Amino acid sequence: MYLSGKRALIIGGTGGIGRGITIALAQSGMELFIHGGTSQERMTATLTAVQSFGVKAQGLLNRIDGDIGPFIAFCPEPDIVVVAHGPFLRKRLVETTTEDWRFMTINNLAFPGALISAFLPGMVARKYGRILLFGGTDTGAIRGFSTTPAYSAAKTGLAVIARSVAQIGACFGVTCNILCPGLVDTEYTDEETKSYNRAKSPLGIPLSPEIIAKTALHILESPALNGAIIQIDDGINL
Ligand SMILES: NC(=O)c1ccc[n+]([C@@H]2O[C@H](COP(=O)([O-])OP(=O)(O)OC[C@H]3O[C@@H](n4cnc5c(N)ncnc54)[C@H](OP(=O)(O)O)[C@@H]3O)[C@@H](O)[C@H]2O)c1
Repeated sequence: MYLSGKRALIIGGTGGIGRGITIALAQSGMELFIHGGTSQERMTATLTAVQSFGVKAQGLLNRIDGDIGPFIAFCPEPDIVVVAHGPFLRKRLVETTTEDWRFMTINNLAFPGALISAFLPGMVARKYGRILLFGGTDTGAIRGFSTTPAYSAAKTGLAVIARSVAQIGACFGVTCNILCPGLVDTEYTDEETKSYNRAKSPLGIPLSPEIIAKTALHILESPALNGAIIQIDDGINL
């Protein structure tokens, strides 16, 4: 109801959690600007699915390398920005290479940060904006990670961005929040990871993109939630 008629840019909106959010936003009657990585097949399937709800939608395939230019050209004035894409890396600190650090920080921290720097002035001027970022499992506070330090460091850093946006945006109807999911099975999850997710999930059932999308929609609808880090993880203890 609150989101109807708004323009939403969803980064990584053709697969996994991002696709769940794309479908949920389509049901809310928004105009959608959907980004995907490399799969034309997934993009076509997503566009077909959202158009069945009668909403306007267009797609952009772009492998993220830190350049935000194509995204600004694709959707210059979004009301809502969801950055779902965020590659995972399981590597111990002493095994993590310079290239791993570069890739993790560009995709999971610098790219969302640069997008926000570019879109925030317009949102402030229009007195409306909703930004939703994705943290990792249990990356809501500073702590050590033995197997995922580069990924988790970048994800934890997103909190600084969200709080900084909240400081600026609070008086202008602009919010930025972070959702930290637990273990989610998606079409990208291999069998080994699925069985790890089952074993580690407190209820024995991994989360689904649809469950995450429902919570994402509540966050995007709320004018009061700002600078928050929200864990949706069944209380998992990794
Ligand atoms: N899944 C989990 O258990 C879990 C747990 C905690 C946090 N998270 C976080 O939740 C968010 C969503 O995760 P997810 O598992 O749904 O999948 P994801 O792989 O982060 O996102 C999939 C989307 O990103 C696109 N994409 C993949 N590689 C790309 C690249 N190099 N450049 C640009 N776009 C690319 C995909 O398009 P193509 O299909 O065309 O490649 C698809 O649209 C992420 O930030 C992740 O870190 C996930």
